[in-house]
Amino acid sequence: MKLITATTYEEMCQKAARVLAAQITLKPQSVLGLATGSTPIGIYQELVREYQEGKLNFSQVTTVNLDEYLGLSPENDQSYRYFMNQHLFNKVNIPKENTHVPSGQPQNPQEECRQYEELLAAVGPVDIQLLGIGNNGHIGFNEPCGHFPEFTHVVNLSESTIQANSRFFAHSSQVPRQAVSMGIGTIMKAKKILLVASGQGKAQIVYDMMFGPVTPQVPASLLRFHPDVTVFADQEAGVLALAALSK
Ligand code: GLP
Repeated sequence: MKLITATTYEEMCQKAARVLAAQITLKPQSVLGLATGSTPIGIYQELVREYQEGKLNFSQVTTVNLDEYLGLSPENDQSYRYFMNQHLFNKVNIPKENTHVPSGQPQNPQEECRQYEELLAAVGPVDIQLLGIGNNGHIGFNEPCGHFPEFTHVVNLSESTIQANSRFFAHSSQVPRQAVSMGIGTIMKAKKILLVASGQGKAQIVYDMMFGPVTPQVPASLLRFHPDVTVFADQEAGVLALAALSK
């Protein structure tokens, strides 16, 4: 696991975006695994800017997203499909049919999970998987629990995640209690993983992920067993991990 720190959030996003831009340039048919949350927004802004400047072409790119809230329609402005359309897909020349986000309103959620795994197997492997990290170490919506979930599955969101994500909703009671998420095993199949973390609230969990025990109580800790993970942190989020590395 490699750590790249940046002085500011903007610089961190530029550095991470450069890796994604290089991937798309070198392999126009790249499969990108994408993430939501506030942290990747600056990366998407960078990619959109490069596209607008004529430096990037998304016409052959395929994307697969990590997760979606159960119960939200694609038109709901808190759904992850809506988020991705707003921040990236509507602003670049990616064909909509090449963009995949789990359904938030499946008839049968278990069947949706099975079909999403099938889709991933058909379009994959993912060339680069982008990840944020939750305050409790979740990646996608893989919450701390007794095991590392292997496949796409239905998740009961933890109280801490509901509280953390309530900042995007009018009231915490509106945050969906369940989601569909790729499993940790699904994520680990990506050829390369970029994890981004910003702000002092993430400093401890970045440290725990990199130096604490590998445990399903910190789902992101399993990434230490992946051969190609780069953690991008701004100064605040990287402070404890950087101190540990320079000891
Ligand atoms: C949500 C998403 C995660 C994301 C996390 C952190 O729970 N499911 O994929 O990493 O939020 O979000 P933020 O970057 O806003 O801290």
